[in-house]
Amino acid sequence: MKPKIVVFASGSGSNFKAIAEAIHNQTLDAQIVGLIYNRPEIGALKIAKNFGIPTYYLNDKDFPNYEEYELRLLNILKTLKPDLIALAGYLRKIPKSVTNQYTNQILNIHPSLLPKYGGAGYYGIKVHEAVIQNDEKESGCTVHLVNEAYDEGAIIEQVKVPVMADDTPEILAKRVLKEEHQLYPKVIKNYLTQILKKS
Ligand code: GRF
Repeated sequence: MKPKIVVFASGSGSNFKAIAEAIHNQTLDAQIVGLIYNRPEIGALKIAKNFGIPTYYLNDKDFPNYEEYELRLLNILKTLKPDLIALAGYLRKIPKSVTNQYTNQILNIHPSLLPKYGGAGYYGIKVHEAVIQNDEKESGCTVHLVNEAYDEGAIIEQVKVPVMADDTPEILAKRVLKEEHQLYPKVIKNYLTQILKKS
């Protein structure tokens, strides 16, 4: 049985695609058993359809209260039985009940060299705007473990990219994203090997 991954996404899903492609190309020995998403008609959805990956729309705002949302999410995960959860541009906080139950089994990718430019307010293009504003000479991406605090779990691996004098946030975002697509499947592969050895 191949190790099971559940991906969470809120946007275009290019990192999700990179993971799915790595599996398709057999550089990553795993299966994506579900995509959990919280916004309708996002790019990630189309990617899931292309790869035949089951999708689960889940938005806490559709539930009478947060607890019921948490229960539903926990239930989906219980059915999917992931070895690993990969957040790929997921813009909602993961409930504590989930981070508690899947300790050391949730990874995220962030488009900066954490701990710099992480935490509340630093998402999407805002990260790259701040990097340029502060005249940083380098930026990059980070894969880290997810705990209940935003972007604060243990760092697993980072890749650096230079920041050029004439960079716009969009140009820098592209340079970083390109590295993300290489880094995330690679880290997932290594991390899965590590956790499966322990179990
Ligand atoms: C990436 O830059 C990732 O680091 C961040 O959100 C963005 C998602 O992009 N967490 P995509 O949806 O994978 O294209």
